[in-house]
Amino acid sequence: MTAPLRVVVLGAGTVGREVVRALLERGDALRPADGAALELAGVTVRDLAKAVAGGIPEALLSDAPAHLVADPDVDVVVELMGGDEPARTLIAAALGAGKPVVTANKHVLAHHGAELEAIARRTGAALRFEAAVGGGIPVLTSLAADLASNEIERVRGIVNGTTNYILSAMASEGRAYADVLADAQRAGYAEADPSADVEGLDAVNKLVILARLAFGAWLDPAEIPNRNGGDPPGITGVTQADLAAAGESGLAIKLIAEAARGEAGAGDTIQAGVSSVALSQWSELAWIGGVTNCIEFDAVPLGRVGFTGPGAGGPATASAVLGDLLAIARGGGSTWAGLPEAGSGRVATLARKDSFDAPSGARYPVLP
Ligand code: NAP
Ligand code: HSE
Repeated sequence: MTAPLRVVVLGAGTVGREVVRALLERGDALRPADGAALELAGVTVRDLAKAVAGGIPEALLSDAPAHLVADPDVDVVVELMGGDEPARTLIAAALGAGKPVVTANKHVLAHHGAELEAIARRTGAALRFEAAVGGGIPVLTSLAADLASNEIERVRGIVNGTTNYILSAMASEGRAYADVLADAQRAGYAEADPSADVEGLDAVNKLVILARLAFGAWLDPAEIPNRNGGDPPGITGVTQADLAAAGESGLAIKLIAEAARGEAGAGDTIQAGVSSVALSQWSELAWIGGVTNCIEFDAVPLGRVGFTGPGAGGPATASAVLGDLLAIARGGGSTWAGLPEAGSGRVATLARKDSFDAPSGARYPVLP
């Protein structure tokens, strides 16, 4: 019989506490028929008293994540702290020691993905990050594995739940931006600092991760615009009046992330950008409301394929984290599956998508 895998969870906030609860309450059900059991060996937070009050057994808790990562009795590390440091160093240390890592941290992946991929490939430790894009939607594993025989020409979608929730509530219920943002924070959709959501930087991070799997290169997030031309970033310039006027013209305003290969003959460049745009109400993306995300791939020879589902929140995101843990329990590898090492194949360079095409005089670019 295979020995159980001893798992530590770094961070027990919106996502972490759902993962911890599932491991404690549904541990038996989470054992794959063809793999190892998962045993929760520790949980790290900053505020121990808050975690105990939240129901996490004191015996499992620690405020010393580096210590647990280095513990030879720990087999798998789940990073759900968020932010840059110390998350980056802890993930690198775990992978460097040959321990598989599951993370939902799109910031760390977008900013340090190349370094972390190199460590994982060197040591053979799996790095899995399905939860980093699309919350609970199984989009990255599908892209890297099920669509692997295709050439991806374009990735486009709604990849931030908070902003879609805000725009939907403002448009359909006439609610004020600040009120709806506060709701999104209470629901656990927004980042610890919600400016990353509303300014489009969270969507940029997710686009970098999607582009890595779709086009084979880690793009520089700092080079991906989070606005159209000189407009305010993300959704920060979208007003109630804009949404009402768009609705009267048969349009819906959405925050769209897009990365596409350049025109034929333009070389292997990727045009990437994030912007508030106006979509025809007949477009599938225009109908995506609330916290739902929708990500479309233009794949050759398959054609267009889309993935839709809950894009943020504790239970949805924990679903993806636990799916990655089960994959590791079954001996699965990294989220990039059998794709070549980043930068080793048909290498893509980044071309800024400074402007989505806007009709003259229009307040927003209009996409079909
Ligand atoms: P959160 O609610 O802010 O929880 C963060 C947890 O990490 C808390 O338990 C916190 O401890 C701990 N932590 C933070 N910084 C730490 C540090 N420097 N040292 C030790 N512990 C630290 O965050 P979350 O919403 O669960 O998000 C976690 C990760 O998942 C982030 O990378 C986020 O981008 C990603 N994600 C979130 C969602 C979502 O819908 N929320 C969806 C997809 C991906 P204390 O509470 O004690 O401070
Ligand atoms: N803050 C993110 C969002 C969480 O609203 O989409 C999911 O990645």
